[in-house]
Amino acid sequence: MELLKQKILDCGRALDEHVLLVDSFLNNQVDVKLMQEVGREFARRFADAGITRIVTIESSGIAPAAMAALEMDLPLVILKKSKSSILKDGILQTEVFSFTKNAPYMLTLKPQFVNPGDKVLLIDDFLANGEAALGASSLLERAGAQVAGIGIVIAKTFQPGLKKLQEAGYRVEILAPVKRMAENLIEFE
Ligand code: G4P
Repeated sequence: MELLKQKILDCGRALDEHVLLVDSFLNNQVDVKLMQEVGREFARRFADAGITRIVTIESSGIAPAAMAALEMDLPLVILKKSKSSILKDGILQTEVFSFTKNAPYMLTLKPQFVNPGDKVLLIDDFLANGEAALGASSLLERAGAQVAGIGIVIAKTFQPGLKKLQEAGYRVEILAPVKRMAENLIEFE
């Protein structure tokens, strides 16, 4: 998606080979017009997939996922992150390890917001190691849904997440695949 790639080049900043700062339009401040185009692009790419529900992970996945849900006229469900397991009936949880933050968290789904048989499009802002997307997919499958697609705004394709998701059989669409970074250098696939 050229508009997004140009925004990353104009407003993003590679801190080093591993971390891309996009806080001015995706993580802290949100460019909602750009997110609207992102939502349209996801809708276009997954138009043939029979999606019945959009799911995302708080917090930075919410803006692009909400725009896709609006565009596709579908409900949006948010998976929450909590520090510890919540001992509560009727919720599904799985532990996810964040390599970026070097800490685990519990990803939480309230299954009443997903129907068995739903064809879910999972949307997230970043794909790095893929742990968040794999954890989210396992929760959705435990709730009886099918993960019919995974839509990622920015993927660092030199990190293992994309390969892991593809090897697990998921259809992954990436709007801005970053193949290499260095201080002040960003290269797309
Ligand atoms: P994974 O989700 O692919 O397994 O990767 P990882 O655990 O390493 O990512 C943890 C968090 O860091 C995620 O967001 C992810 O979006 C973010 N992240 C990973 N690499 C980058 C990067 O290069 N730049 C930026 N800006 N973020 C990155 P989060 O911290 O859990 O939270 P939130 O912003 O969605 O609240």
